[in-house]
Amino acid sequence: MTMEHWSLSVDDQGIAWVTLDVQGKSVNVLTRAVVSEMATLADQLAHHDGITAMALVCGKPQGFVYGADINEFTDLKTEADVGALLDHVHGLFQRFADLPFPTVAGIDGFALGGGLELPLVCDRLVATASPKTQLGFPEVKLGLMPGYAGTGRAYGRIGAAAVLDMMLTGRMVPAAEALEMGLVDQLCDDAAGLHDAIRAMIASMGGVKPPRPSITGEDTKAAVDDAAAKFTKRLRPDHTPAPFAILDHIADNAPDAAAISEAEKGIFPALMMSEASDGLRRVFQLTDMVKKTGRGDSEVQSVHVIGAGVMGGDIAAVAAMCGFNVTLSDMNSDAIMAAIDRARALYERRLKSPEKINPVMDRLVADPDQKGLVEADLIIEAVAERLDVKKAVFTAVEAKAKPEAILATNTSAIPLEDIASALNDPSRLIGLHFFNPVPVLPLVEVIYSQYSNDQAIARGMAFSGQMKKMPIRCKSAPGFVVNRALLPYINAGIAQMLAGTPADEIDQALVNFGMPMGPIELADQIGLDVMLDASTPLGMPDEVAAAFQQMIDAGTIGRKSGQGFYEWDDKKALRPRAVYETHAQKALAASLLQPMIDECRAAVAQGVVDSADHADAAMIFGVGFPQFKGGPLHFADRNAL
Ligand code: NAI
Repeated sequence: MTMEHWSLSVDDQGIAWVTLDVQGKSVNVLTRAVVSEMATLADQLAHHDGITAMALVCGKPQGFVYGADINEFTDLKTEADVGALLDHVHGLFQRFADLPFPTVAGIDGFALGGGLELPLVCDRLVATASPKTQLGFPEVKLGLMPGYAGTGRAYGRIGAAAVLDMMLTGRMVPAAEALEMGLVDQLCDDAAGLHDAIRAMIASMGGVKPPRPSITGEDTKAAVDDAAAKFTKRLRPDHTPAPFAILDHIADNAPDAAAISEAEKGIFPALMMSEASDGLRRVFQLTDMVKKTGRGDSEVQSVHVIGAGVMGGDIAAVAAMCGFNVTLSDMNSDAIMAAIDRARALYERRLKSPEKINPVMDRLVADPDQKGLVEADLIIEAVAERLDVKKAVFTAVEAKAKPEAILATNTSAIPLEDIASALNDPSRLIGLHFFNPVPVLPLVEVIYSQYSNDQAIARGMAFSGQMKKMPIRCKSAPGFVVNRALLPYINAGIAQMLAGTPADEIDQALVNFGMPMGPIELADQIGLDVMLDASTPLGMPDEVAAAFQQMIDAGTIGRKSGQGFYEWDDKKALRPRAVYETHAQKALAASLLQPMIDECRAAVAQGVVDSADHADAAMIFGVGFPQFKGGPLHFADRNAL
């Protein structure tokens, strides 16, 4: 049988060069077709005369193998389907492990997941010392663990502590570290020297197949306990079962490498079918989708930010960190200085060394006289949330700005059309709605009005991408998508509390669900004054509005006043965090999430966002909706809510 993705050629020394070059893809991934073809390859290796050794290499200029093709996972409908796939792959990989002659894999570039399990079938691994050569088991990020017998084969080489580190963090291990830990046996300088290094490795084996590496005498229990303490302290098995399954897997089966690999088949299928893996795989794809929409060049080099408060100050700071030349103005020069001090503190935390901090500080310029406005390619307004103030700002901006400069507002609720009415050319205005805190939250809603021109929107998307943010295009409509869905959810929580359910019970239900914090605590965190202002245009129950007003009148507006619905000890709401009955908590969480789900659905139906995927992505990246639930609409569909 001919092969499409693999090729085999035997040289005059009897070395069988096996090359993977997946057709129709720019990088190698282990699709099912690629894996199935390995049966033909194994047959050819078995029947070819005179083979003395096998060398496994990759035929792509970029990367070794990136792992399984996760798009194909959706065809797997039951644990039995997954089990059958694993049996198939384990059997095929074992045929390569059992080849009677020495085998060597040569790795240049990324060897991830299944793309690392594949070379691990070989007796020896040679890798290039290129910075692009990185080895890892990222499966945990998809709610999974390695499933192609790589857990045992890696364990046999590097032991419990190192394999747990790789499997629990999903991190990529650079070539030098891989050599040090024993994951690979030798490095060569670069791809040009890889074939010679493989030949030398084969020669060093003298035609004798070496025994499999195996670990003896290590304290597996101590390694498992250490890894549990280090990597799973903040995790919960009911949210993300994979890390806990990985720990149990090694604890139960080490030190027998073959038993570890075999046991994967009993664990992996359930992980693959879990709600968490379903959600995390979806988020992986949503991330990819959103990042793609933020690619490209915004043709922005200089940015002028007007309003150096909480938002403007931080937008300016992040823009300078992302390479833009930024000028920052405010009618109050103390606000500018305070913002620049905050930026310095951010850079000290993130960039650490003066060599990195100083050039960024040089790019962030205090500009009380708005000198930078004339030259700026993008002007972002982040002044007070008042239409008259914003209109006045934009009238002045339009008079001075370059004709091709994009004009953007960070308004959270004012219709863009109203602000644009201050402009001679309203098509220039878009919204760039960042989320607080800007350095932390990845979402930017890129807002377009009925007037906005396509080029300005496209440049706004690209600029957000260059700010290393996740941009979601939204139509100008009350609350855009995130606030439209978030505020009614918070207010439903407040209404439930006013109806008699203890605040702690409500918040605990949502924390148990997986939200970063519950709605009452979040209202306190946002500030009850801001909550009332932001919710009013969206509508809210009268009793909730009255409760906010009463608290505001009493000066107890949440975290910033030390007291809101909870008492606050700086960053922490003082609440009992009691244990409540699980079933009731699940029902409570589902009912309180319903307004969020309804509003996301309505935003999609009304074309405020492009699709349910975009709505889910917005809630995940803007609000911290749990990734392992895949977004509110995905959660609702899965649970028929
Ligand atoms: P802030 O009150 O912290 O800062 C506003 C700044 O604008 C102040 O420093 C003020 O001196 C300055 N300013 C006011 N009028 C001005 C004018 N005419 N010219 C120059 N400077 C002027 O406000 P914050 O929170 O930064 O909000 C700014 C905008 O961002 C608002 O539209 C708000 O709705 C929006 N926003 C706020 C979020 C938040 O969590 N705080 C989140 C997302 C958007």
